[in-house]
Amino acid sequence: MIKVVFVCLGNICRSPMAEFIFKEIVRRKGRTDFLIESRATSKEEVGNSIYYLAKEKLQEKKIDFQEREAKVLKLEDYEKYDYIIAMEQINIEAITRICNGKKEKVFRLLDFTKQPRDIKDPWYTRDFESTYVDILEGCFAFYEFCKEKEL
Ligand code: 4NP
Repeated sequence: MIKVVFVCLGNICRSPMAEFIFKEIVRRKGRTDFLIESRATSKEEVGNSIYYLAKEKLQEKKIDFQEREAKVLKLEDYEKYDYIIAMEQINIEAITRICNGKKEKVFRLLDFTKQPRDIKDPWYTRDFESTYVDILEGCFAFYEFCKEKEL
């Protein structure tokens, strides 16, 4: 089992979008050997559902998702997951604080692509189409990385 957790600030926009987009990719590839979840670095949105504009974007793109509640990443999660995938550099700093300085398993999603960069926070940009396109690119690239690691 390959255990992946996507992490953003609030766990209501980018990381749940990444969770369900990556689940969709893995499902379409016929793979059943991934555990895929998402978490926040901040307590701000704990217990809240996926933000409605993120849900609307997933529906528009025909990506299945389930109702869920935002949760914070914990120190013990560092042991649970194989890959902790951040949306932007500032998340990596927060994740490293939560995980007592450990960072071997921590990656930024778009660092798997040919144009390493942050995924901007759509809470502020309001541009959920760009968020979706960036996450999709990152998830495809991360899936290829996982496949190559197995060879
Ligand atoms: P996310 O977006 O990190 O992609 O889930 C945000 C959601 C909420 C807040 C910030 C970012 N907030 O400050 O409440």
